[in-house]
Amino acid sequence: MIKRRSSRSGANALAGYICLALTIFLVGCGALQEPVLHQATPVIEVLTEQQTDLQPTTPPTATPLLPTATPTPEPTATPTPLPTATPEPTAAPLLSPIDRMVAVRNAESGAALFVTFQDAAGTGYSCSNCHLADSEKANLGPGLLNIKDRALTRVEGQSAAEYIYDSIINPMAYLVEGFDAELMPQNWSEIYTDLEIFDIVAYLLTLEGESDIDDPDPIEAGEEETAEQG
Ligand code: HEC
Repeated sequence: MIKRRSSRSGANALAGYICLALTIFLVGCGALQEPVLHQATPVIEVLTEQQTDLQPTTPPTATPLLPTATPTPEPTATPTPLPTATPEPTAAPLLSPIDRMVAVRNAESGAALFVTFQDAAGTGYSCSNCHLADSEKANLGPGLLNIKDRALTRVEGQSAAEYIYDSIINPMAYLVEGFDAELMPQNWSEIYTDLEIFDIVAYLLTLEGESDIDDPDPIEAGEEETAEQG
């Protein structure tokens, strides 16, 4: 092999002879044959090590891609549930705490309380002593039929439930024209619990029916007109 090479390239004949001489010398030494093999082996090993060195460098380049991918979905996922939760709170302000309480209270219990005589109420009264539940006509107090509609016209910004609740626990907060301001007992909140008053409000909100305010009753109709004109 070496002889053929040196015969082919005449220009490098000198180099060929040097190589040949060197080979003969090395072969002559004999013992150097093994070192040559040993030298070749480390080269392969070094290459293998370099390759294995290169292999670990590949994963690191892939790992930075993962961290960049992981943080991105998290921030996008977190803001999304928050805006979805916001619409719910916006629905809440539509109903006040009083509205929500009254909505789940028991109108039947309220009806019973409405006609229950209370010694501690003023000189002793039930609501029904002064208020008609089945009429808009006045007794000692205003008739409460369809009160849920009139309640909305009493105090701006108050729901029907809020106005009726206030009318019971603080009758002086709004005075219906044409009636004795201090006639309604002021201490219902000491007689009834809040939950009981919510029951009464729930009951009053159920009082619906055809208006009877214009029914022939000249005296009361005249009082109503005077009250409206102020
Ligand atoms: C002694 C009579 C009397 C009793 C008892 C009484 N009220 Fe009254 N109530 C009045 C008078 C008078 C008014 C009107 C003057 C005012 O606004 O305070 C009134 C007003 C109201 C109003 C407002 C009506 C409107 O048209 O705006 C409501 C509601 C009401 N009362 C509910 C009740 C309830 C419920 C009870 C029992 C827990 C009760 N009242 C007990 C005399 C009474």
